[in-house]
Amino acid sequence: MIGRLNHVAIAVPDLAAATATYRDTLGAAVSAAQDLPEHGVTVVFVELPNTKIELLHPLGDTSPISAFLTKTPSGGIHHICYEVDDIGAARDRLVQKGARVLGDGQPKIGAHGKPVLFLHPKDFCGSLIELEQA
Ligand code: CO
Repeated sequence: MIGRLNHVAIAVPDLAAATATYRDTLGAAVSAAQDLPEHGVTVVFVELPNTKIELLHPLGDTSPISAFLTKTPSGGIHHICYEVDDIGAARDRLVQKGARVLGDGQPKIGAHGKPVLFLHPKDFCGSLIELEQA
């Protein structure tokens, strides 16, 4: 069911420093920082030949990654995103298999303007999973 790895998201306490690490030390192409208020994050996209890395920094008081950074102050991998062809069919299959879909189970429009869902880490090897309809 799952297809390509769309991105790996890394929560970072210092977005400028993380961007410099990817640009200057690792030699990657990085975007300008973009505020995504509806997601509670500021994001920098790192473009790799076969996937993307997203550097996430909290935006606003209710950011979904604030608690993560409280627990892991130096930052860390926050979620991985796999592509699916049909997010509604994917959701129905996962629910039928007993997996927990976060929120109300309805896809939301993600950082790339496409429908996304998040899956409970305890059902997936301790990793928060995002599904994006490619
Ligand atoms: Co993501």
